Amino acid sequence: MDGSDAPEQSHLNEFLADVVDGLSKPQKTLACRWLYDEAGSDLFEQITELPEYYPTRTEISILNQHADEIVSALGDDALLIEYGAGASTKTRILLDNLNAIAGYVPIDVSEAFLLYTAETLRRDYPKLDVFPVVGNFMAEIDLPELPSGQRVGFFPGSTIGNLSDDEIESFLNGARSLLGDDSRFLIGVDLRKSPDILVPAYDDAAGVTAAFNLNLLRRINSELDANFDLTCFTHEVRWNDEASRIEMHLVSICDQDITIADQSFHFSAGETIHTENSRKFSIETLTPVFEKTGWTITNLWSDPGNLFAVLLLTAE
Ligand SMILES: C[S@@+](CC[C@H](N)C(=O)[O-])C[C@H]1O[C@@H](n2cnc3c(N)ncnc32)[C@H](O)[C@@H]1O
Repeated sequence: MDGSDAPEQSHLNEFLADVVDGLSKPQKTLACRWLYDEAGSDLFEQITELPEYYPTRTEISILNQHADEIVSALGDDALLIEYGAGASTKTRILLDNLNAIAGYVPIDVSEAFLLYTAETLRRDYPKLDVFPVVGNFMAEIDLPELPSGQRVGFFPGSTIGNLSDDEIESFLNGARSLLGDDSRFLIGVDLRKSPDILVPAYDDAAGVTAAFNLNLLRRINSELDANFDLTCFTHEVRWNDEASRIEMHLVSICDQDITIADQSFHFSAGETIHTENSRKFSIETLTPVFEKTGWTITNLWSDPGNLFAVLLLTAE
């Protein structure tokens, strides 16, 4: 193998190890970051426009309504570092309202989509310095050389809701050390609400979220030489009240054996692969972990229906 193939091969090794590990558990699981290849990121963008999917339009409305207050808290010298940037749609609200900015660093696992987003931003904001970073925000992030400026974190989309308690703590500790003293961190958080609103948001009538979920099996087939038959799995959404989270599963509709890179996995009819959690928070449940990791909530903005909250955290 020549050196230029190394990152790609190490990515495939990591993907395979994670898939084999997840499918070997009694409750089969796949880590949700693998949902986002280029097709997955495209499908996620379609989800954000669905009538049932209230989080994106609600968070956008909060950011628009409080843009003046938010950008004045971020300052005129912000080096904006976004975790899980996707299409950077919400970032544009900050960019359109900030007087000045030292640079923008979108971090995402979905490489092709991230690079496309970066190009689009450079075209639309010719004076903006964009430093895309392909990487897993749960691991150590290898930043390029960056301009000086006050580091400001941005973590919209309630992506924090995909993380377990331990992962949130580890993520916030990592962000605290990457962003540094006196930094600010703007986080979008989806709030607990009726399952009558939540379940359709993740199980839309047009079937886009189902396609997003099933795309993970297509990705495993194409990248890891597997033989999932996508017609033999269905998308299922569950509200887990005790854990206060929406769960996405893929349900095997029959007894079947799947081969992935020469390893075989048995699925009984009705057995599921748990592919994503989207936790729904009350601010009181998050406050202790913010405090434990050196962050204080200094502002909270919400919508009239209290569906979603945007929090400004300050490093202590
Ligand atoms: C729920 S989407 C949110 C996208 C966008 N920030 C928004 O608010 O619409 C999650 C984004 O985080 C990225 N992502 C998920 N897990 C990640 C991880 N562990 N490291 C880096 N990026 C990740 C995905 O590729 C996707 O772009």
